[in-house]
Parts: sequence; C-alpha cells; structure tokens
Amino acid sequence: TQPLRLGIAGLGTVGRGVIRIVQDHAALIEKRTGRAIEIAAVSARTRDKDRGVSIEAYEWEDDPVALARREDVDIFVELMGGSEGSAKAAVEAAIAHGKDVVTANKAMLALHGQSLAEAAETAGCVIRFEAAVAGGIPVVKALTEGLAGNAVTRVMGVMNGTCNYILTRMEGAGLTYDAVFAEAEALGYLEADPALDVGGIDAAHKLALLTSIAYGTRVDFDAVALEGIERISIADIEQAADMGYRIKLLGVAQRTGRGLEVRMSPCLVPASSPLGQLEGPTNMVVLEGDSVGQIVMRGAGAGEGPTASAVMGDVLDIARGTRVSTFGQPAASLAEPQAATVTTP
Ligand code: NDP
Ligand code: HSE
Repeated sequence: TQPLRLGIAGLGTVGRGVIRIVQDHAALIEKRTGRAIEIAAVSARTRDKDRGVSIEAYEWEDDPVALARREDVDIFVELMGGSEGSAKAAVEAAIAHGKDVVTANKAMLALHGQSLAEAAETAGCVIRFEAAVAGGIPVVKALTEGLAGNAVTRVMGVMNGTCNYILTRMEGAGLTYDAVFAEAEALGYLEADPALDVGGIDAAHKLALLTSIAYGTRVDFDAVALEGIERISIADIEQAADMGYRIKLLGVAQRTGRGLEVRMSPCLVPASSPLGQLEGPTNMVVLEGDSVGQIVMRGAGAGEGPTASAVMGDVLDIARGTRVSTFGQPAASLAEPQAATVTTP
C-alpha cells in the first residue's frame, strides 16, 4: 500500500504537535492502519523559525494554496486558523483538487462549514474536524459513531478552557475579572483576539458545530444566543457560591416544544455536580441520548498534544479508509431561548 501523504499548512502550536506525533509514532500508526503516514510538504508564514521539531525533510511552500494543490498531497491538514482568508482559500483549493481535508479551524467551520462540506461531497472528498470541538476530547466521534443509534436529546458543556480558568481562578483566589484576565494573557491562554474567548464566541463556534452534528441540521451561527463572561463580578461568583452554585460559561443545545434552542451563556450550576467541579483551563461535554442516557466527557480542550491527538485521529480514520464527512444538511430555524431550565449533571 502506498503511504498516505500529508500537506500541513500551519506549524504553530497544533501543527508542531501533529509533526511530533507523525515522527514519534510512525511504526504505531502503520501497525494500526496498515498504511504508513508521511509528511510530503509544509507551509507557514515564516520559513526560518525554530519550531522545536525538524521540518528539514519536508518540501516547503510559501503559499498554503499551492500546498493544497500539490500532486504529492493526499490529505490537506489545515492548522493556520482564521475564518476567512488563507485558511478558507486553501481548504477550497484542496477540495477543488480532490484532496481530503482535516482541520482544527472552528471559526472557519462554524461560519462556512456547510458550504465546505457540500463542496467536499460534490468532489468526493472527506472533510473532518474532531480537533475543532473541545480539543483532545473525542466528542465528534462519540456523537457520530458510538452514539449513532440514539436520538440526541441534549448537548451541553464548558467548551472554552480560558473562560473556565478565569471564572475558577476569580473564585479560588478572590481576584477581580481584570486581574485574572491579565494572568490568562500572561499564561498565553487567550486567543489573538481575546473577545473570541471572553465574549463566548469561540465556545459558541464549537457548540454550533456540535449541534449540527448531534441534530443533523445546519446551525446559522448568528442565531445562537450568545453572552460572554466579561461582566461577571466577584460579587456574582460569591453570591452563587453562597447558594451552592458556581458560574460556568455553559453551552446548551436542546429540543424544546418551540424547536431547537442553542445558547452559550454564563449559567449557575450546582457546585457539587461534575460541571460545578470543573477547574482551570479544562473542557467538559455532556451528551444525552434517548437510549444511552447521559455521558460526561472531560479533558484538555486545547494545547499542542491534545489538539494534535484529535487531528491525528481524523488522519488515521482516513488512512483506514473512512469516506465519511460529518455535517448536518438542512438549515434549522432556532427557537428563541427562554430562561434557563437546565438540569446539569
Ligand atoms: P498558531 O497561531 O500557533 O499557529 C498558526 C500557524 O499558521 C503558524 O505556523 C503560522 O505561521 C501559520 N499561518 C498563519 N497564517 C498563515 C498564512 N496566511 N499562510 C501560511 N501560514 C500561516 O495557531 P494554533 O496552532 O494554536 O491553532 C491552529 C488552528 O487550530 C486554529 O484554527 C485554532 O483555532 C485551532 N485550535 C487550536 C487549539 C490550540 O490549543 N492551540 C485548540 C483547538 C483548535 P508562522 O508560524 O510562520 O507565523
Ligand atoms: N481559546 C480556546 C480555549 C482554545 O480557551 O478553549 C481551544 O479552542
């Protein structure tokens, strides 16, 4: 069998992690899939940069679109980020040239995922994005494979580790929002545009993707009810704690009598519940199905290793021969969310 050849665009935190796994686990990967995985070529903005992994053995492309078109690339791995611009252009070019695509780009997928999935289907390509939702937690796989026999009744969770760090640190250290925000910035937790984190937008991107998969429908991102954590004060947190609750930036997608309701907002959850006990920059996703009941998945939603782990899970699935992309089809009109009536685990 011919090796499966990757073209990796983006050699930052996640790209570096993917290269490390390919280099460190070549034998394991071949044993598991029956096929070797090789990196044919890579692209980033700057060629001469110490990235902590060796890329000398790979061809270099300045332009990610040129990388996406290369004949020696079977899977285009998009790890640049950004909802528009180069990432979208390169993914479109890859599909137009018959390449399968693996991406971690939640912002691009939440806004353009449906049209990209339709283009991939027309071209006979696969597009997969486990890493785009909750980093290392294999939640897309859980929904599309393990729980495929269920009607999903609810999806909820904490999907932005930075916000969970800020909220739990405010409570634990009695620090103001501004002080903890500065800490998060120093620790490198914040996105280049911090409003994506604290405004709840990044978490809402992930929830929109999960909702599409769970309910087999397209979610218009603008219809997701959204509120961030910027206005949460120490007083709010203390008052919640006095009543046995903690404040979490919680995403909830559920069917109601009025239709599908999708919202990402600060919610009170019982302090003794798994969601209430979630500390630091961590994610937790709760899935409910009519047969399985409730499942709770917890783990690292970001970082080099966890995110690269999810990217490689998709790459290995393609190496094993899967031809399945995962996205819902018809657009759903979302119900206006009512006051929270969520029973958390
Ligand atoms: P980084 O900022 O660390 O890396 C981005 C990489 O893309 C860099 O190597 C950069 O080049 C390259 N790049 C950016 N723009 C261009 C361009 N126009 N042409 C060529 N190369 C370009 O990002 P991350 O690795 O953190 O994130 C990558 C993707 O993964 C994003 O979509 C992000 O949302 C997603 N993701 C990230 C997670 C994380 O924990 N970091 C978790 C889950 C998803 P150069 O190095 O030369 O500047
Ligand atoms: N900014 C995101 C978070 C990174 O804090 O969860 C992972 O998507």
